[in-house]
Amino acid sequence: MTDELAPIPAATFPLSARSPGKCIVFGEHAVVHGAPELAFAVDLTTQVFVTRGGSMRLNADPEALEHNAYFRAAVEHGWSDRSPVEVRAVSRIPRAAGLGSSAAFVAAITAAFSAAQGGVARPALAQRCFEIEQGAQGVGSPGDTSTVVAGGFVAINGGPGEPLWSIRSTDRRWDVRRVSDPGWVWVVAYSGIPRSTADAVRSVSARLAAPGGPELLEQFRRVATDGISAVERGDRRAVAELLQHNQVLLREVGVSHPRLEALIEAAAPAAEAVKLTGAGAGGSVLALPVPGKETELIRRLARAGALPFVVRPTAVGAGLVTV
Ligand code: PMV
Repeated sequence: MTDELAPIPAATFPLSARSPGKCIVFGEHAVVHGAPELAFAVDLTTQVFVTRGGSMRLNADPEALEHNAYFRAAVEHGWSDRSPVEVRAVSRIPRAAGLGSSAAFVAAITAAFSAAQGGVARPALAQRCFEIEQGAQGVGSPGDTSTVVAGGFVAINGGPGEPLWSIRSTDRRWDVRRVSDPGWVWVVAYSGIPRSTADAVRSVSARLAAPGGPELLEQFRRVATDGISAVERGDRRAVAELLQHNQVLLREVGVSHPRLEALIEAAAPAAEAVKLTGAGAGGSVLALPVPGKETELIRRLARAGALPFVVRPTAVGAGLVTV
C-alpha cells in the first residue's frame, strides 16, 4: 500500500506523471447530491509527458486549448505561469466508458504541473483536480478525481475512520475515506455506446428534484452506506444483493439503456451481480463474477457484443513517474 497522503514532490521539466482510472461500485449520480459513493482505482492508466515548448500543445495539436476542455481547464486552473508546454498523453483507459479517463487525464497533468510549480500536498491536489474536472464538465462530484488521486478503495461521504481529506464546492462538502480492498476480481464491460456524463448528470438531477426524488435519493444513500460496510467486512453475498438493488435505482432514474440491460441478462449465469458503472446511458457495466466463472463471464459479455476487461484494483494513486 502506498502512502495515500504522500505529497507530489517538486520536479523540473521534462517530467512525467501517471494516474489510474476508476470504477464506481455504489452510489454514482447520488454522490453528486451528497449521498455516499464507493469506488476503486483500476490498474489501467493515463500517463503524460510534459516539457517546455514553443507553444501550448497537447499530442502535437496547437489548438488543443480550444479542442479539449479538460486540457484548457488544467492550464487555466493548474498552470499559473502559463509559459508554453508540450504535453503528450498516452492512455490505456477507454474514453467515455465510465472508467475515469477524464479524471485520470486531469490528475496526471495536474500532478505534473503541480510538481513543476514546487510540489503539492495530496489533499490540495485532490481539490485542484475536482475544480479542474468540474470546470471542464460543468457538473459532477469529486468522486472520480479523489479516487484516482488516492488510489485503492475510496468512500465518499461514508466509510470508517477519519477522512483522508475533504473536498469543497461553493455549496457542498464531500469527505473522502479509505476502505479496505476485499481482494476480489471485478469485470467491467464497455457497451461501445459513448455518452455524455454531463447530460446524464443533468437528467438524473432533474429526476431527483421531481416528486418522489428525495425518497429515491434516500434509497441510494442507504444502498451505498450498506454497500460500503459490506465491502469493508468482505461480505460478498451482501455486496451482490446491494449491487443489484443499486441497478434497480439507476434504472428508476433513467440511466440504464437497452444495451446495458442486454449485457446484464447475458452475464447473469456467470455473475453474482451486474450493474452499470459511471454515468450510464451507455458506457459500461460492472460485474462480480461467480468465483471460478470469470472466463465464462468474459465470454458471455464478449458474445453479447461488449468489450470486457478484468479490472484489478490498484493501491497506487496519481503521481510522478521517474524517467
Ligand atoms: O461515467 P463517469 O466516469 O464520468 O462517472 C460519472 C459519475 C457520476 O456520479 C455520474 C458523476 C460524478 O461526477 O460523480
